Amino acid sequence: MRRGVAAAVGVAAALALVGGCGVPLSVSSVTAPDDFDTPLPVPPLAPSQVAADGTRTFHLTAQEGTTQFVDGVDTPTWGFDGDLLGPTLRASRGEQVTVEVRNELPEPTSVHWHGMHLPAAMDGGPHQPVDPGDVWRPTWRVDQPAATLWYHPHPHGRTEEHVYRGMAGFFLLDDPAAPDVGLPHEYSVDDVPVVVQDKNLDDDGTLDLDGGEVGVLGSLVTANGVHGAHLAVTTERVRLRLLNGSTGRTYSFGFADDRTFLQVASDGGLLPAPVEATRVRLSPGERAEVVVTMAPGETVRLRSFRPDLGRIAAGFAMGANDEFDVLELRAAEALAASPQVAEVLTTLEPLQAADADVTRTFSVSGREINGRRMDLSRIDETVEVGATEIWEVRNDDAVPHNVHVHDVQLRVLDIDGDAPPAALGGLKDTVYLEPRRTYRLIMRFEDYTDPDVPYMLHCHLLLHEDEGLMAQFVVVESGEAAVDGPQRARPPAGSSHDHG
Ligand code: C2O
Ligand code: CU
Repeated sequence: MRRGVAAAVGVAAALALVGGCGVPLSVSSVTAPDDFDTPLPVPPLAPSQVAADGTRTFHLTAQEGTTQFVDGVDTPTWGFDGDLLGPTLRASRGEQVTVEVRNELPEPTSVHWHGMHLPAAMDGGPHQPVDPGDVWRPTWRVDQPAATLWYHPHPHGRTEEHVYRGMAGFFLLDDPAAPDVGLPHEYSVDDVPVVVQDKNLDDDGTLDLDGGEVGVLGSLVTANGVHGAHLAVTTERVRLRLLNGSTGRTYSFGFADDRTFLQVASDGGLLPAPVEATRVRLSPGERAEVVVTMAPGETVRLRSFRPDLGRIAAGFAMGANDEFDVLELRAAEALAASPQVAEVLTTLEPLQAADADVTRTFSVSGREINGRRMDLSRIDETVEVGATEIWEVRNDDAVPHNVHVHDVQLRVLDIDGDAPPAALGGLKDTVYLEPRRTYRLIMRFEDYTDPDVPYMLHCHLLLHEDEGLMAQFVVVESGEAAVDGPQRARPPAGSSHDHG
């Protein structure tokens, strides 16, 4: 069976089902690795060609493969340019980039550049499908701060499965004009991307897609595709770029000995100042960059502690009871010195409620936003370019959701009226929504108008997204109207599409 009980009957009925008996619908026991002896594989940097006009071109091929999550057990998986996950794309602010996306999967997919500010036609959402055998060539200018972004498929109704099968990669942005703030930056040495995903295997070794209310909660939690990996640390400080690439699980990362670390960045780039922390909560799609200091010769594990999911319904576990180790850090006997992390990392524009021209309200519940499910032929919101807007998003359920807004990096103004914690004080594109709370988000829509092609806003618990918890917005010129209807599903203007 593809879907769990809760998904089939809807949230309200599911809540009634657990009623007084308190039996969790999503029971998950996480399996500890036998050891952490596998060296952490770090995704290779994707090669690129720079043309005479400065355009940097990458190539990505979506393909089928095989991965051993368990020794000796072959599991069919999907990846970009390989069996699982994908290479790291890396570009600098100001560069024109093109990605040639080739689909060698047996079904249509798409590739969305999560966190990227770019024209809607290049966004890689459900309106830019790539059929088997086709090539899609989006192109845009990178124009945003340095950040840990990522890419993943976004085909209509199929996103959970494509990401769960292993389709995800990092897209790192650099800003050559930004000052040096003492962050480790040698890729795969002291600056290491770590995507965490959880999987369940059936007896025959295939990926098990059955899930509960939030989709799959896997018993095999992997770091860069490996269950039980270690990172050999050779420097005093190491920067981990953590990505929750899971479809439904929320993590609360920290270290097994509860040491303090510095959170230096959130989804869209550097925080104004490092935040001293012992935990960082990441719901699906969110990123955090952390800097951890190691002593020579020591070993410590990156752990996911029981996540505080907020006031969730009694009887729903949803991973709230799970605690497990994800990655072991093994420091060498002698560590190279690392720079000191600066006390000020960046200056963010002070966006305040008074700056907003428009306020929109969104109620998230079940699989609906404001009582409606996703409809590819309906534009839900029309935004005028140049506007600064407050989006007041409320989780009206007693179960977890989050919200991801395409195109922009937003700021959290307040949560039920209170200032957000420092870790949520920077640029965000995905925000966890605790049950029964209201999040006021502020964002500016600076450019890239297109009345024909919408951007998405949705829950990044991908089962929810696929089942309809998604809406569409367009950014238009002042006075312009959105174009409704199926003509928007045409191949986007400005990018090219052909058969490979
Ligand atoms: Cu990472 Cu619309 O998704
Ligand atoms: Cu949701």
